[in-house]
Amino acid sequence: MAVFNSLTTHGLLWITGQVSIISFLLVMLLVNQYTTTKINLQQRASSSVHRMLQGRDGHPHLTSYQDGIPLDCHVLHRSNSCNNLPNYFMYSSKRPQFKSTVINFMHVPKSGGTTMKECMNMVASNLVRDEPFLLHTEGRIQVTQDILNGDFRILNSTSLFMGDYSFGFCDLIHGIIGDKKCSTFVILREPYDRMVSNYYYCIELNQTIPGIPDCRTHTITEWALRTKSILWNEIFTDIDCTKNMNWECKMNYRTLEESYLLSQNTTYVEALVAGLDKHFSVVGLTEDMETSLKMLQQAYGLPFFDTCQTLDYNAGTYKKTMNKKLLKSIAKNQLMAHPAVRELLYPEILMYNRAKEIFEIQKKELESL
Ligand SMILES: *[C@@H]1O[C@H](CO)[C@@H](O)[C@H](O)[C@H]1NC(C)=O
Ligand SMILES: *[C@@H]1O[C@H](CO)[C@@H](O)[C@H](O)[C@H]1NC(C)=O
Ligand SMILES: *[C@@H]1O[C@H](CO)[C@@H](O)[C@H](O)[C@H]1NC(C)=O
Repeated sequence: MAVFNSLTTHGLLWITGQVSIISFLLVMLLVNQYTTTKINLQQRASSSVHRMLQGRDGHPHLTSYQDGIPLDCHVLHRSNSCNNLPNYFMYSSKRPQFKSTVINFMHVPKSGGTTMKECMNMVASNLVRDEPFLLHTEGRIQVTQDILNGDFRILNSTSLFMGDYSFGFCDLIHGIIGDKKCSTFVILREPYDRMVSNYYYCIELNQTIPGIPDCRTHTITEWALRTKSILWNEIFTDIDCTKNMNWECKMNYRTLEESYLLSQNTTYVEALVAGLDKHFSVVGLTEDMETSLKMLQQAYGLPFFDTCQTLDYNAGTYKKTMNKKLLKSIAKNQLMAHPAVRELLYPEILMYNRAKEIFEIQKKELESL
């Protein structure tokens, strides 16, 4: 099953992304187009148009292709979503719509999400729900292309989606799932812990990836400075599609470098964070998976807690000996003491802090229901 394959491959997905980002960065430094792309992204960010269905007017920053119209399929509701049900616990009037919603899980690496994906599979197979479709790189490209080409087989075969590239998926299917609604949930983890865990996971993988520093021979700080905030990267991953005979799509990692520049704009980041309760139906925390599962169970009326409470969400084969715990806590302190690391994790930290507030609201509401 494709879904279980992701257990071993997903760690590489974002790394593959990073390779392109870094090559892109080099190209950008040579061409020096920062100013234009930045302005364009800001204009796009405030737009609320469904780009995929709209075409591509006014996007001079997009690469033009030889025999086709370039089309930016990413939906630009980064501070404002058009097709996600809002937070289940905070917007009670929307609750009836959760009965027949597409469920989309945004997976952030090393936040308990691999186990959460296993959980989604178990919930699906115990019920009459279909197997979840995996929105990793190829999956997201595939489903986007299919939709543009008028092929709705994937959408007709399941209402469960999950993966690293699932942000924006609800907006992508806006207008083509009839009366059904779409909702996205996410599990977040304290950003420094997440980064440390990611680093040691990379070491555990024991592979050289061309273009990025080898985690086995680089310090965690060097490594973090290159990889940046993966959560932020996921939010900004863009897909470009062109039509020749058929629509063909590919990931546009270039956007990530633009997004990094935006991540340094406090006003922008704060606006995005303020919209968190509109983007996500439920915000779970890795630090409290038990309550997170109860929240999902309540929101979706599916046995997330009953089925998955016994799974190990801090899994990973990296053994939790005292030594390694100590190592991780030293690594975390190193990251926290580094000004440039603090800067690059800043948007993720703001998001996490807001997630914790939302989590408390959800918890109170859950107890009262
Ligand atoms: C697939 O979905 C589309 C759009 O929702 C719908 O029009 C079509 O009838 C469905 N086809 C099948 C075979 O279910
Ligand atoms: C890591 O991979 C190398 C080969 O690339 C191998 O020689 C080495 O034993 C591996 N280390 C571990 C800890 O698995
Ligand atoms: C920061 O973002 C806000 C909101 O998108 C924008 O209005 C402002 O011009 C940006 N500031 C800079 C310095 O780019």
